[in-house]
Amino acid sequence: MKKFLGSKKIKTAVFISGTGSNLRSLVKYSLLKKAPIKISLVISNNSKAKGLIYAKQKKIKQIVYKFKKRTVDENKILNNLKKEKINLICLAGFMKILSKNFIKKFKGKILNVHPSLLPRYKGLNTHKRVINNNEKFSGCTIHYVSSKLDSGKIILQKKVKVKKNDTVKTLAKKILKHEHILYPKAIKKIFINL
Ligand code: GRF
Repeated sequence: MKKFLGSKKIKTAVFISGTGSNLRSLVKYSLLKKAPIKISLVISNNSKAKGLIYAKQKKIKQIVYKFKKRTVDENKILNNLKKEKINLICLAGFMKILSKNFIKKFKGKILNVHPSLLPRYKGLNTHKRVINNNEKFSGCTIHYVSSKLDSGKIILQKKVKVKKNDTVKTLAKKILKHEHILYPKAIKKIFINL
């Protein structure tokens, strides 16, 4: 990736499926003058995703693709990304798996946030598995997306203590707060600190 020199911000698309709290933190960050990204597009597979309401408030273009036919929708997405001159994709709670072909077309330009200390606890229900295994620590990871699920190169991680009385809900809430800090930090690491 090219270093951000303070003039032209990198046009970014955020892919969401739900609440969009990471979208919110990314948008807030992107509005800082020193931030290297500008969020120009939000894509969702879920028309009821709360994050879309926020995107609308912030006047960010949004498109919903149901992903019923993945290849067809991915091609439409690729066309839109091209049209909007998107150079970076941030997956933020996006619950669909992108095809190898799609990832190849955006190689090295797709980031994801995962609520565990990868490579541990890939996939879904991370907090439940962490608690069931009596782990003392969990956390979150920002990583590049590769064709293997939750396996791309790690950019940043934050370790979070799991307390004895933590439930899936309290742990998820605690980790989510760190995700909001870590995602912008990872973007800064990629484009500013290099
Ligand atoms: C986050 O915990 C993220 O790590 C996981 O899904 C959650 C999405 O939250 N993949 P939000 O939609 O950003 O609020």
